Amino acid sequence: MKKIIYTVLCTQLLLSCNSNEKISKDIFEEVNKSMEVKKLSEVEILEEAMKWGDEISTEAQTQLITALQKAISEKGIPEAIAFCNVEALPILSEVSQKHNISIKRASIDFRNPLDKPTEEEFPILDAYAYNSENDIKNEPNIQKFENGEVLLYTKAIQIPNSLCLNCHGEPKTDINEETLDKIQKLYPEDKAKNHKIGDLRGMWSIRLPKSEVIKRL
Ligand code: HEC
Repeated sequence: MKKIIYTVLCTQLLLSCNSNEKISKDIFEEVNKSMEVKKLSEVEILEEAMKWGDEISTEAQTQLITALQKAISEKGIPEAIAFCNVEALPILSEVSQKHNISIKRASIDFRNPLDKPTEEEFPILDAYAYNSENDIKNEPNIQKFENGEVLLYTKAIQIPNSLCLNCHGEPKTDINEETLDKIQKLYPEDKAKNHKIGDLRGMWSIRLPKSEVIKRL
């Protein structure tokens, strides 16, 4: 319907062109401007979603690591477990609110059951796990859901260094008894141990509403 209106308007403008060049040019520009949103290509929207997802995941990761390092240096590893238990999700929910999107971490070998992958997330994590096992580099990914209205940005989280092994490594060798005890109490069904450096630990999962992505263009 809008298209028809635009076509009629444009035809009328073309007809009036001869009589008054200045006015028709101004109106043309106005009409063009109003149509700009429609001209955005799918590729531009996906590229912007990728850029935004990269920014948000980097921000969230930095916040979590800074808070984790602070907790470890002030209280030690075992107490930092309790800190992660109480603080990790609120830190992420602050990032969600700031950007008006939703962000979480998902892991097949989850520690917190709230990080269990959804039906949308599972196949993506599975593909990341396959790549990781076969030494294929994992790249961030965008997939469309809900008729394309939601763009799901994901990025693999690998274990970068030995800091993580204090709580995600091998029991007794990497994770000390006191820490193990705390993990067991807070997360009786914990699956997030026995990792080595370079292992896939999970992924960032960020739901970006297409309308919010378009606002940035
Ligand atoms: C002080 C112990 C500790 C250290 C060190 C630590 N983690 Fe965790 N990690 C936890 C706890 C506790 C949770 C569960 C947090 C929650 O309840 O939301 C967790 C959860 C996660 C999750 C979310 C998925 C899940 O299993 O629930 C990821 C991903 C993760 N950690 C990655 C890492 C990485 C990467 C590092 C190293 C940079 C790291 N962690 C270092 C304790 C730790």
